[in-house]
Amino acid sequence: MVEKTLFGTLADSTQIDLYRITNKRGAFVTLQTLGAGIQSLYVPDRNGVLADVVLGFDNPQDYTNPDYGYQGLVVGRWANRIRDAKFTFNAKEYSTPMNQGQWTLHSGGRFSFTPWEVEQTGDDFVTFKRFSPDMEDGFGGNFTMWVKYTFTDDNILRIEYTVLADEDTVANPTNHAYFNLSGNPEETVEGHYLKINADLFTETDDDQLTTGELGELKGTMMDFSVSHKIGEKIDEPFRAIIDGIGYDNNYCLRQKDFTLQQAAVLEHKESGRKMEVYTDLPGIQLYCGGWLSKDYTAGKENGAVKYRRGAALETQFYPDSLHHSDKFPVKFVKAGEPFKTVTEFRFSAE
Ligand code: BGC
Repeated sequence: MVEKTLFGTLADSTQIDLYRITNKRGAFVTLQTLGAGIQSLYVPDRNGVLADVVLGFDNPQDYTNPDYGYQGLVVGRWANRIRDAKFTFNAKEYSTPMNQGQWTLHSGGRFSFTPWEVEQTGDDFVTFKRFSPDMEDGFGGNFTMWVKYTFTDDNILRIEYTVLADEDTVANPTNHAYFNLSGNPEETVEGHYLKINADLFTETDDDQLTTGELGELKGTMMDFSVSHKIGEKIDEPFRAIIDGIGYDNNYCLRQKDFTLQQAAVLEHKESGRKMEVYTDLPGIQLYCGGWLSKDYTAGKENGAVKYRRGAALETQFYPDSLHHSDKFPVKFVKAGEPFKTVTEFRFSAE
């Protein structure tokens, strides 16, 4: 069942709507037209008690503040960082917004911080659409992205991204939800168990920009190939970690053939809630909210969007694949041909 309600308005009076998909078990996801985002996601614990497992806000305007971390929003056209805010594609140079340091982060945020159209709803799905004209934020091609969210009766949230453009171009969409399976946003995510099916990560420099090298995870504080608590080693010094920030890194998933496979498993043992991430993309950014402020007071029902209160698991092509397409696994958009990628968040309780 899909129900539409008014979420609120942005400072410029733009109306933002909510679409709630409720499944036969009573679990539900609430999506918002701003950034085609996930605003809430209520799934059961081992006793069947529903709780909201994503961080976020009660006021749509809060989602447009980049310092609040893109809570639940879709990121496009190209997620993560682009070194020097420029890249060459098919022998042509493109310049993208320099919205952080000397680089681009999340393409400047336009896909996340503007309202999307709702193209279609069904019993268990909502499809959002956004058109991006040629050269918007420096990216080539008249470009349309659709994001279809399906919430199944067995508590799978499936996100299908489709892109259609009138020339060959680039796309790297993701969703930036921060999960806290305790349902209590005051609880740090450090007590969650995490497994990531990766042996390698993308090495970064002091600005967290991809160098092009891949590092071995084995024996490092970044290794999650065996499930353990996020907090266990988060503050151990390591070359790819900024002191005090903790995990904000791309893992190279074992699969590289663009088929849907398990990427990660997040568990909150106290409630029994478990989330498996499946994707057909080769990378996943683990970000534990280390750049979020320690003392925000904003958040749903006065809950807290704060430092280390949620884990974002952003499925993606490796960051800055635009500069390393000779060695990183990446696919581009072909003119007139649908480009598709899918990620699933599968919830259960144990
Ligand atoms: C980045 C973080 C950033 C966050 C919110 C993540 O994808 O890796 O560094 O703070 O997005 O913008």
